[in-house]
Amino acid sequence: MSDGRPELAAAQREHWQDTYRVHPKMYGSGPSEPALYAADVFAAEGVGRILELAAGHGRDTLFFAHRGFTVVATDFSDVAAAQIGRVAQAQGVAARVEATVHDMRNPLPLGPGSIDAVFAHMALCMALSTKEIHAIVDEVGRVLKAGGKFIYTVRHTGDAHYGIGHCHGDDIFECGGFAVHFFDHELVERLAAGWILDDVHDFEEGDLPRRLWRVTATKPN
Ligand SMILES: C[S@@+](CC[C@H](N)C(=O)[O-])C[C@H]1O[C@@H](n2cnc3c(N)ncnc32)[C@H](O)[C@@H]1O
Repeated sequence: MSDGRPELAAAQREHWQDTYRVHPKMYGSGPSEPALYAADVFAAEGVGRILELAAGHGRDTLFFAHRGFTVVATDFSDVAAAQIGRVAQAQGVAARVEATVHDMRNPLPLGPGSIDAVFAHMALCMALSTKEIHAIVDEVGRVLKAGGKFIYTVRHTGDAHYGIGHCHGDDIFECGGFAVHFFDHELVERLAAGWILDDVHDFEEGDLPRRLWRVTATKPN
């Protein structure tokens, strides 16, 4: 899937590894607002098995597991994935959590239609080219069952960090060591080709604050 920023991807992976070693609870232990929303949407749809992309140290993974869903949680940081496994064990939900080291730039290790719903909070807006983002969404469409929901969030061009720091091209800016691909509306629209675009919701997270869109899409039957 890669189209030419392997050095940036490798540096970002190291940066995230170091970050999780130093700040193992970087995002806190409670669920994010998008996860609270997604859990209600997924429950209403009768979802059993969720794929979570770029799950980090698992604040949302563990919440989903406690809500009774089974979660395949992926991240390219093995430090983060190992932490999810340990905490899931300690909290008694290990049977419902599969923490897997996976780089989103590679095909998903899952069969076609094998997942009921997909959640990706601040995943597609990582240091990924537009081409890689399209390929990831194609992969999500492959593993998601027909009629399944895909809920993702991305930082967008209204964010205070947009245009700040080192520019890697393709709307990717690196600030404080973290590279982010800031989305514009056109990218959201183009990614929705072949999907039913249910909702795009503007929200904020954290102290900066980060400015994000929460996108809800359905794979057509
Ligand atoms: C902003 S954090 C969000 C973590 C988590 N979703 C949350 O909200 O708590 C982004 C995550 O993406 C992961 N990541 C970045 N690039 C990735 C890639 N190419 N493949 C898999 N994970 C990646 C990082 O390791 C990090 O955990």
